[in-house]
Amino acid sequence: MRNFQLESVVIEKEIIEKRLDELARSIEKDYEDSELVMIGILKGAFILLADISRRIKLPALIDFMSVSSYGDETTTSGVVRIEKDLDTDIKGKDVLLVEDIVDSGLTIDYLLRTLRTREPSSLRIVALLDKPSSRKVDVKVDYKGFDIGPDFVVGYGLDCAGLYRTLPDIYSIRIEDDC
Ligand code: IMP
Ligand code: MG
Repeated sequence: MRNFQLESVVIEKEIIEKRLDELARSIEKDYEDSELVMIGILKGAFILLADISRRIKLPALIDFMSVSSYGDETTTSGVVRIEKDLDTDIKGKDVLLVEDIVDSGLTIDYLLRTLRTREPSSLRIVALLDKPSSRKVDVKVDYKGFDIGPDFVVGYGLDCAGLYRTLPDIYSIRIEDDC
């Protein structure tokens, strides 16, 4: 039996919503007249993609990719594999990768390298959370919600062993075993 417990709210829903409004405004400004493709990285980004895409008043294609990097562990394996690829041809398109959180950076770095070979016209990252102190590769988040410390968090799409994704706020969690 796994043993974990929600600790406290780290970022409240209202704060997240306000920040998403700001991010959406700057994305709209930067992508005027673009053929925007927003790619949600499953599963964690499903809530951010839904919330930010509806705030961006531009025509946009929505697609998803699924990669495995963590399995059910809280520490990175460094191995990234594409489980579900895009349905969209991104050549010549302005692509925005939508991630829940950038931690070591290994997942997003792998995705950036892979997607660049498909010759999009531009490729940028939106992430709700960034853990800059946990970086193993140098990745810059173009549109970032919040910087947080290295501790594990759940909610707003982020899970521990598949649970807690639907919590509207971000919580810290006490973990006695791995997630
Ligand atoms: P990276 O490859 O180390 O940057 O890991 C990115 C992925 O790890 C994210 O998409 C999350 O699925 C997972 N992850 C990293 N930190 C957390 C966390 O604090 N809570 C939940 N998932 C996390
Ligand atoms: Mg995860």
